[in-house]
Amino acid sequence: MTQTRIGIIGGSGVYDIDGLRNAEWTEVAGPWGKPSDAILTGQLDGVAMAFLPRHGRGHVHSPSTVPYRANIDALKRLGVTDVVSVSACGSFREDLAPGDFVVVDQFIDRTFAREKSFFGTGCVGHVSVAHPTCPRLSAACAAAARDAGITVHEGGTYLAMEGPQFSTLAESRMYRDSWGCDVIGMTNMPETKLAREAELCYASVAMITDYDSWHPDHGAVDIAQIIATLMGNAEKARDLVSRLPALLGADRAPCPHGCDRALDHAILTAPEA
Ligand code: ADE
Repeated sequence: MTQTRIGIIGGSGVYDIDGLRNAEWTEVAGPWGKPSDAILTGQLDGVAMAFLPRHGRGHVHSPSTVPYRANIDALKRLGVTDVVSVSACGSFREDLAPGDFVVVDQFIDRTFAREKSFFGTGCVGHVSVAHPTCPRLSAACAAAARDAGITVHEGGTYLAMEGPQFSTLAESRMYRDSWGCDVIGMTNMPETKLAREAELCYASVAMITDYDSWHPDHGAVDIAQIIATLMGNAEKARDLVSRLPALLGADRAPCPHGCDRALDHAILTAPEA
């Protein structure tokens, strides 16, 4: 058994968490640059927590400039075992309405201007991301959402776009009608892939703020509408997060899906003699 430490990466509108004991903002240094911000550490219901605002307090990082590698590395250095991403997204389905949450389990990565791996020259590794999220952690997130009275959908495909502009109508229709995507956002990639490389369990809670631009009755996405929905979503997200420690517990059995052993057969470079 190891000790659980839950890492929360908060998206737009989620800049801290409630009720932490011994709460402290900690600066974490590493070789991948500075994380988005200091990390808020403490305990909730006897479980160690670490919270990182993805865009930084004051929302200073755009989706393309978030230091994704430094963020995952910093959480790993703090002993985080399970990472829960909380982020805003648009919906491609009538039945996934603004205000609903989706615990996504698949991604299509259309980002192109971000560092995507801890591996490269000197150490070559290829991890599997066929199943990019952790089913155990995702189930806990869905249960926490239900307990908090949130309308939550389990499973869904998240289109990760570069941004910062929203999609054109043609793109929105293609993602929805041809590619079968359920939601769209700008931040879950390469975060998800990096968490796998770091052998962390990862789950993504996508909070719907809008219908993107495909919906005939809703027109173009506009940031005022997103922010209005976001405020309500942020309260619900805090409630969800506060329920996770009791569901996950302080003692942690190895991940039954192998997230914490993802590198066992992934590294090709020979160890130094
Ligand atoms: N974040 C919230 N809504 C979004 C949308 N429609 N497209 C991309 N990112 C989003």
